[in-house]
Amino acid sequence: MTLDAGRRPASTTETRDANRAWWDAEAEDYHREHGDFLGDAGFVWGPEGWTEDELGLLDLAPGMTVLEIGAGAAQCSRRLVRDRDDVRVVASDLSRGMLRTAQRLDAGAGRPVPLLQCDGGRLPVADAAVDRVFTAYGVVPFVADSAAVLREAARVLRPGGRLVFSTSHPVRWAFPDVPGPEGLTATTSYFDRTPYVESSGGVVTYVEHHRTVGDLVRQVVGAGLVLLDLVEPEWPDRNPQTWGGWSPLRGRLLPGTLVVVAERPGAPRGA
Ligand SMILES: C[S@@+](CC[C@H](N)C(=O)[O-])C[C@H]1O[C@@H](n2cnc3c(N)ncnc32)[C@H](O)[C@@H]1O
Repeated sequence: MTLDAGRRPASTTETRDANRAWWDAEAEDYHREHGDFLGDAGFVWGPEGWTEDELGLLDLAPGMTVLEIGAGAAQCSRRLVRDRDDVRVVASDLSRGMLRTAQRLDAGAGRPVPLLQCDGGRLPVADAAVDRVFTAYGVVPFVADSAAVLREAARVLRPGGRLVFSTSHPVRWAFPDVPGPEGLTATTSYFDRTPYVESSGGVVTYVEHHRTVGDLVRQVVGAGLVLLDLVEPEWPDRNPQTWGGWSPLRGRLLPGTLVVVAERPGAPRGA
């Protein structure tokens, strides 16, 4: 079987089918590899290790409805369910395998996380039904059309509602994805939007898509949202851990994660 990895175009369908199958197969290994760092009920925004408790980006208030997309094993939602009995939380993901891991983590838990299997770009949710949509490293890099995902989030948000998503910092795409010193020299154009594709025997098995910071800002604005913040979490001294190509060495010099915070215009309920 010929294995191939590199930059080449990938369609919407190719991307969705490949990533769904990849995350289905990878679910338990991903949890084995990263579960301790993430915590089964932990809300971490990225490999730097900053948590929602520290950053407070969701700005939750009592009575809110919160939808996580690309939730994986739903660690973030599980944390919210554990800590906030005054908000309603639903965790969604495209991959049945990732949700199965979520169910396994919930077995025996007092309040299991409500789970929903769906594509983050086609949410089975009514217009203006939720107050917060968020994802930590889910959906956005794994779809061909991230603008459609942002429009869908905007559709389901109530006026005054907030979208928060973290993703690989776009600048990483100019550098080799390795944790050591070789990962500090730019070798590819930051402006090359060709996705990273893995295939096996000619069948696409994994896809990640690249957008520049400007592309993401335009997609947020194009979705009718107001950009509130672009958070570039710095690598904290307390974190010695390497995660794939993210490492303390690179983290001290280059941004690794971008967190986008945006709002649907309008007055929130009860304002
Ligand atoms: C890197 S994992 C992140 C999971 C989780 N948010 C975390 O922090 O561990 C990416 C997740 O995005 C999900 N995903 C990929 N494409 C998706 C799509 N189109 N719609 C919804 N989820 C998707 C994958 O199934 C996977 O669970």
